Amino acid sequence: TRSHLTLGIETSCDETSFAVVADGRRILANVILSQTREHRRYGGVVPELASRRHLTNAVPLLHEALAEAGIGLDDLDLIAVTRGPGLVGALLVGVALAKALAWALDKPLVGVHHLAGHIHANFLAGPGEEPAPAPRLPAVALVVSGGHTDLFHLQADGGLEWLGGTRDDAAGEAFDKVARELGLGYPGGPVIDRLAARGDPQAFPFPRAMLDDDSLDFSFSGLKTAVIYELERRGWRDPDRRAELEAHLPDLAAGFQQAVVDVLVAKTVRAARQVGARQVYLAGGVAANRRLRRDLAAAAAAEGLELAYPPPVLCTDNGAMIAAAGYAAWRRGRRDGLDLDVDPDPPL
Ligand code: KG4
Ligand code: ZN
Repeated sequence: TRSHLTLGIETSCDETSFAVVADGRRILANVILSQTREHRRYGGVVPELASRRHLTNAVPLLHEALAEAGIGLDDLDLIAVTRGPGLVGALLVGVALAKALAWALDKPLVGVHHLAGHIHANFLAGPGEEPAPAPRLPAVALVVSGGHTDLFHLQADGGLEWLGGTRDDAAGEAFDKVARELGLGYPGGPVIDRLAARGDPQAFPFPRAMLDDDSLDFSFSGLKTAVIYELERRGWRDPDRRAELEAHLPDLAAGFQQAVVDVLVAKTVRAARQVGARQVYLAGGVAANRRLRRDLAAAAAAEGLELAYPPPVLCTDNGAMIAAAGYAAWRRGRRDGLDLDVDPDPPL
């Protein structure tokens, strides 16, 4: 029988992406246009610029995705689009286009929670990879990105339950802000990851916030402040002492990164114990962090837990993960009307 084809649309932040996914599992096309380079000169994502780039790039990228999948608009069976969380103006571009397509093609429409999308990146067959990994439930998922740090329980019936999250900065945001203080540019995660590989994670013992409380919540803004305080204390904010700071960058990066990773690992293991999970899924841009992957793999192994994470291209924002999550929701009976709105805190 013919495959079911979902169009996945993602415009929540600074990636414009369109994907065609067969049966919710197989990627036929996943076209991603990242605006990171354009936003870099401002030190972060500029919302209005992001919206306008989505607006001009959307239709050409949609054409590209269809061509890559070798299909036409009429072949689509379902339109899935990120409805939030994200930048409202950026989300509006994707949602408006999704509604226009659903109406003109007379096809069902499903609005997707962006974080459900990140989690579903774990259940896609990447290019040349077949078959797609089957979800192992119950599981816990740690979603760590520039905008989010959240723990979820993937219930045996396929439902999602939020277990905890950051009370202030997201983990990726902490990487970005600390990198800026260190004069390393944007985005900070990949640079800190690289520098930390040559540093001593114990040279600067930064605080591990909320490590010892019972919650599954996180806090990273104090850690950022601790790094700034250390720079001030040593006089390393003085441009004349840049060389001295540079000599200590690997140790500073390693110390900061280890403080983030220790808390992420401890809380994820605690969450797995709490819900009786045997499987841990990692997702989001920070899931690319090598120390996090290594330490979480070691902690999971010690607990008898399986750890899985998507390939790097599916860790960051993309339409395929939205198609996968939208298809799963559609299978469970979810349908949205043409009055679908963006939502900064949508239902899972
Ligand atoms: O998921 P994503 O592409 O966009 C959001 O939805 O936020 O995540 C981007 C975030 C940025 O904060 C970036 O610094 C971080 O992921 N990141 C990393 C690494 N690669 C990207 N953080 C730590 N280590 C990395 N290797
Ligand atoms: Zn994201």
